[in-house]
Amino acid sequence: MHDLTRRLPASAYRYLNGTLRCEGVALDAIADNLGTPFYCYSAGRLRERYRAFAAALDPLGVKIHFAMKANGNQAVLKLFAAEGAGTDIVSGGELARSLAAGISGDRIIFSGVGKTAAEIDAALASNVHQLNVESFEELRLVDMIAAGRGIVAPVVLRINPDVDAETHAKITTGKRDNKFGIEAALLDRLDNEVKALANLRILGVAAHIGSQIMKPAPLVAAYKRLGEIADELKRRGLPIERIDLGGGFGVPYQNQTELSPASLAAAIAATVAGRGYALAIEPGRTLVADAGVLVAGVTYVKDAGHMRFLVLDAAMNDLIRPAMYDAYHDIVPVREPAPNADLVEYDVVGPICESSDTFAKHLRLPEMAAGDRVVLATAGAYGATMSSTYNARALAPEVLVDGHRFAVIRRRIDVAEQIGWDSVPEWV
Ligand code: LLP
Repeated sequence: MHDLTRRLPASAYRYLNGTLRCEGVALDAIADNLGTPFYCYSAGRLRERYRAFAAALDPLGVKIHFAMKANGNQAVLKLFAAEGAGTDIVSGGELARSLAAGISGDRIIFSGVGKTAAEIDAALASNVHQLNVESFEELRLVDMIAAGRGIVAPVVLRINPDVDAETHAKITTGKRDNKFGIEAALLDRLDNEVKALANLRILGVAAHIGSQIMKPAPLVAAYKRLGEIADELKRRGLPIERIDLGGGFGVPYQNQTELSPASLAAAIAATVAGRGYALAIEPGRTLVADAGVLVAGVTYVKDAGHMRFLVLDAAMNDLIRPAMYDAYHDIVPVREPAPNADLVEYDVVGPICESSDTFAKHLRLPEMAAGDRVVLATAGAYGATMSSTYNARALAPEVLVDGHRFAVIRRRIDVAEQIGWDSVPEWV
């Protein structure tokens, strides 16, 4: 038998009585209630992922700041906050979302290459744990805003270590030509600059070299470089006490092996642990990806003569990763196929008027029919947060399952509500 659930975590998604469940709840039951498409997250799996990383990293004294760009729903943030997580944020919007979820400033790291004056001011007003500053230009702006508030800003320098993360070009961030971080060679300028900037305290260094990193080697290289730079800056008299190792830990979407909590812990132990620095990581994807699925309905099985299309009611506006990064998300039928069911080939597509609205090509699935449902697997990270209303489509709702109960944690934002976002001047 073809194990169609191979990309779904056994602890969260399994067939029971012929239908796919998330924990104790049948996805069909949620779909009957809510319609499709919708995102579904397993609370148990979210906790399991967080606890696996915490267990591996606690002994090394590493703090976890969830990179909430991967999934910023208030319920998800609260769930992680209850586990002890802080957040890594990249905008004033994410600051507001973190604070609204009860994550106080002292548990927030503010990253990002283009923080505006207003965002920096809001972060300082909230007493964030640190601002990860990415340029000398930003250092001067932070200093000026801190001076205006009469405070000393806690600053960590994001370094560009010029290490290739060996991942997709669009999610590589640690090469010299990427816009991120301060080039290590430029750090000599600090000696002159920092003396003039009395409203900053440079507490540490950070790096984030990319996302969906599958092997420890690039991380080890970056961490090693960060350790050297921290030591060097300390020798030069800066009060360096923190190293922020970023995120980027890869998960299996297809035939890959995850970057496990144990291998991450080993990379940290071999490089920066036990050297007196306070350590932090900023994982996004690995904490949320496989806890989530996008549940979609089959609108048509289109017979195109030489091939067949499975036309779903979910589209690239709901899950843009395939269109944007050629990403693969496994597709699994909600109704359990017979053990001996023959597999047939489909191109799985959405209804949007673009050829890039394609989820999978030449995918082998059991015979499907209009009205059936499927899940797109491993969709808990960068799914809902990257969704849009393109083609005047609704924003899909999000559901959280915990044991035998489920709750809608974001309702469907339909077109009637979206029309209300516009306003028409009377002279049109
Ligand atoms: N820290 C910083 C400064 C980041 O820029 C990112 C992600 C993270 C942490 C978390 O990385 P993670 O652990 O999730 O790999 N939309 C793309 C991924 C973009 C990642 C951007 N930065 C995708 O869907 O694959």
